[in-house]
Amino acid sequence: MIEQIVILDFGSQYTQVIARRIRECQVFSQILRFDTPASKLAAFKPSGIILSGGPASVYAKNAPFCDPSIWKLGIPVLGICYGMQLMAHQLGGRVEKSEKREYGHAELEIVTGSALFAGMERIQKVWMSHADKVAGLPPGFLAPARSENSSCAAIADPLNRLFGLQFHPEVHHTPNGGQIIFNFVHGVCGCGRNWTMKSFIEHSVAEIREKAGKDRVLLGLSGGVDSSVAAALIHKAITDQLMCVFVNNGLLRKGEAEGVQRVFGQNLQMQLKYVDATKIFLGKLGRVTDPERKRKIIGRTFVDVFDEAAKKAGKFRFLAQGTTYPDVIESVSIAGNPSSLIKSHHNVGGLPRRMKFELLEPLRQLFKDEVREVGTQLGLPREIVWRQPFPGPGLAVRILGPITPERLRVVREADWVVIDEMKKADLYYKVWQTFAVLLPVRTVGVMGDERTYDNVVAVRAVESVDGMTADWVRLPYDLLARLSTRIINEVKGVNRVCFDISSKPPSTIEWE
Ligand code: XMP
Repeated sequence: MIEQIVILDFGSQYTQVIARRIRECQVFSQILRFDTPASKLAAFKPSGIILSGGPASVYAKNAPFCDPSIWKLGIPVLGICYGMQLMAHQLGGRVEKSEKREYGHAELEIVTGSALFAGMERIQKVWMSHADKVAGLPPGFLAPARSENSSCAAIADPLNRLFGLQFHPEVHHTPNGGQIIFNFVHGVCGCGRNWTMKSFIEHSVAEIREKAGKDRVLLGLSGGVDSSVAAALIHKAITDQLMCVFVNNGLLRKGEAEGVQRVFGQNLQMQLKYVDATKIFLGKLGRVTDPERKRKIIGRTFVDVFDEAAKKAGKFRFLAQGTTYPDVIESVSIAGNPSSLIKSHHNVGGLPRRMKFELLEPLRQLFKDEVREVGTQLGLPREIVWRQPFPGPGLAVRILGPITPERLRVVREADWVVIDEMKKADLYYKVWQTFAVLLPVRTVGVMGDERTYDNVVAVRAVESVDGMTADWVRLPYDLLARLSTRIINEVKGVNRVCFDISSKPPSTIEWE
């Protein structure tokens, strides 16, 4: 069993951040539900347990509790925020109910030495987000740190290696939070530094070889980060037993289909089946304008085209997918938890269910930054590893109104200018997404002595961490000026450029 820290999720919006911070310490971590039985948890032989924060109060009806047997496992535990209150509550301390929330920056004063705070200054800036607080320590505990609002901002039973923090060490607003997590996993739990992407690749290659045996694996390559890295990893393990199918739906960006064929077919010498299904997709889309209908048609057509291509490519035992860890974490839904409302987003091009394959998902354990690291180590180019997200339905949701070859040309050319200028300004890889949208209106303009009546293109540039919320990027004026001039000069049929200054919410990133 791999050396690891297990995180019990009580519904905090930061649970995944805790897992990532631990992995940054080169220790594997996995997230389990708060009510995972202690026996099941112990079977992973974790070196430590972290109880996440959460929106509940320990006094709430149906408050999420962990199996009390975990306190007797002899494994170090760190409770964060709600996790600490639960620790205090279950071990005989006193939690004080409060209607008022303490939210934001606070000053922490470390009053006694503690393994958690090793190597840290007496005064620390920390991030608080809680209502209830610990007012009485459980037997055997002391309070190594306090804040203005609480005499028990940290609690510890060093003998049994149980610790609690009222604040959130995992968020960036707690500047030295990483050190606290480092101290817990290495200092308290005694973990080594075994979780590296180099060792992941080695293990994973061996595992894929063993699982696949002599059988063949089919993979739908989209050109996105996840499917590309999955392909490179599986190819490293079983070379020609892997067959990638790349479907050109006619809704891709300029040069994309050629790029994928060059990188995977020529450079990496993979078995790659390229299917140009442009005509089929555009035929099915016809004059459809409704965004959801566009998505449905594209999703269904993809399955049909992929299915057909797979049949022609012979027999396969496995279907490989670039599923990543955030896709597989079982989400915990607790009243009042905003993250329980966030759904995983539209997945066009998922597994054709009627196909009878076993699944091969070598990235299931990885977060996005780890997937990128694996891709880099496998030698994939930066344009693929650091690619901006691109929606499955492609340019179809960036063409408002019907999709025609002519309107595709306009948005594709305009989009290419946006990408080109963003790269020249060294901004392309620094923002979440940048693209052009073709609007379904025409406006009046003048070119030379002529009156024009032409298309409007909107430029969108957004910053985001996960696509769930986003802010528009304050692009420099001279860059905006170049974008506008070049799009109008170089893209025939456009006489006006707008810049989208809306955030998500209330807008969305895509226009459809
Ligand atoms: P929205 O527009 O909902 O987009 O703010 C959030 C993120 O999801 C991408 N997106 C899609 N991805 N199929 C996908 O695979 C889709 O139908 C789809 N619609 C939006 C979008 O590009 C952004 O990154």
